[in-house]
Amino acid sequence: MKLREIKGIPQYSEIIELINAEWPPEWGEKTDEEKAEVMFQSHNIDTETVKYLYDDNQIIGFYRYSIWPRGNLDSKTAHTFDIAILPSMQKKGLGSFLMADLIKDCKHKGFQQLLSHSMRNNQGSINIHRSFGFTVHLETEDSIVWEINPQLHNISPKIIS
Ligand SMILES: CC(C)(COP(=O)(O)OP(=O)(O)OC[C@H]1O[C@@H](n2cnc3c(N)ncnc32)[C@H](O)[C@@H]1OP(=O)(O)O)[C@@H](O)C(=O)NCCC(=O)NCCS
Repeated sequence: MKLREIKGIPQYSEIIELINAEWPPEWGEKTDEEKAEVMFQSHNIDTETVKYLYDDNQIIGFYRYSIWPRGNLDSKTAHTFDIAILPSMQKKGLGSFLMADLIKDCKHKGFQQLLSHSMRNNQGSINIHRSFGFTVHLETEDSIVWEINPQLHNISPKIIS
């Protein structure tokens, strides 16, 4: 397994299976091309960090987070946008490996708050945030916004074979 930071705008079409894995039904039916285009349009090259997780040459996971709000490049807050593992590879600790690396990356960059979002019907997302000690920042009818201070976090991404 190898994590690699993607510089520039990711080719979102090459990770469409991961995008499909995290696409909430609430966002509506879209073709793969439309989803890749939504991801492309939502990408801000000045604020985003993206890493892919590789198993040999296959991309099996990815994450993306951004400085938040994007308009303030001095902000000490970051926001997770995406974290996904291929469905066939879930529940083996890989999502935790990605989350640990994401928090560590934020810590190294000096962020003091990391926000993240779960739909209430996404138990996998809720569980992974709870397992890392995220606390509730705010709640809406259908979602939870989590927060954590990366500076207080010491979980290292465990090497996985
Ligand atoms: C959320 C996701 C990244 C977790 O990745 P993963 O590799 O399955 O997670 P892990 O194996 O490291 O498990 C992390 C924790 O979540 C729990 N978990 C993972 N998938 C779960 C599921 N579908 N239902 C309930 N709990 C789940 C695990 O039991 C574990 O909890 P524990 O540490 O208390 O035992 C993965 O399920 C995924 O890609 N989901 C689709 C995309 C998505 O919804 N992303 C989140 C958007 S915020």
